[in-house]
Amino acid sequence: MTTVHRSARAIVAVSERLVLTRPQEGDVEAVFAVHGDPETNRYNPHGPQRDLAQAREMLDGFVADWVRDGVGYCAVATREEPEVVIGFAGLCLYTLDGEQVFNLYYRFRPSAWGAGYAAEAARAAMAEALPRFPGVPVTALIRADNLPSRRLAGRLGLVADPDGRVDDEERVIHRMA
Ligand SMILES: CC(C)(COP(=O)(O)OP(=O)(O)OC[C@H]1O[C@@H](n2cnc3c(N)ncnc32)[C@H](O)[C@@H]1OP(=O)(O)O)[C@@H](O)C(=O)NCCC(=O)NCCS
Repeated sequence: MTTVHRSARAIVAVSERLVLTRPQEGDVEAVFAVHGDPETNRYNPHGPQRDLAQAREMLDGFVADWVRDGVGYCAVATREEPEVVIGFAGLCLYTLDGEQVFNLYYRFRPSAWGAGYAAEAARAAMAEALPRFPGVPVTALIRADNLPSRRLAGRLGLVADPDGRVDDEERVIHRMA
């Protein structure tokens, strides 16, 4: 008898090595594994998530973004192990100084760093979403000392605000050139 394995996850995009899916109910442990790790929050003044309740709150927000806007952050896995979430990346709509923009987001398990996965996931998410929202600019809010993130933003084509503008959490506003 042949067993058909089908993923219940809603696929957003597939790239050379990765599969991006909509965050779903059961992802709370994956959210916590990525966001509860001190290493992934070295530059975050709020620190890592402390418990699953905080992860649940974040996941609920991720899910709600997709329901409301038809776009949002994605769970990222490798094509080899599509059920193992290695990080989160993607775009969500928000209002910056009265303008509707996308926020570009990426946060990965340290074990997945240094392989180009964050860049590949961000590119795949942008390629999927941007044609559906023409004219909406891509921004990223990154603390000045978070050099790994700023390097990645630069590789993706974002530049720091020339006037050094920051948001209300002192994060430098980067924008797609
Ligand atoms: C920011 C973050 C996602 C970057 O992860 P990353 O894995 O270093 O980023 P990339 O996917 O761009 O990987 C690029 C690195 O992998 C290396 N690499 C190895 N194989 C590669 C491949 N096939 N393709 C591309 N790069 C590859 C590159 O040389 C590059 O190294 P470098 O950054 O030293 O130049 C990661 O540090 C992170 O999760 N940080 C914590 C969360 C965070 O701060 N998020 C941003 C909040 S604003």
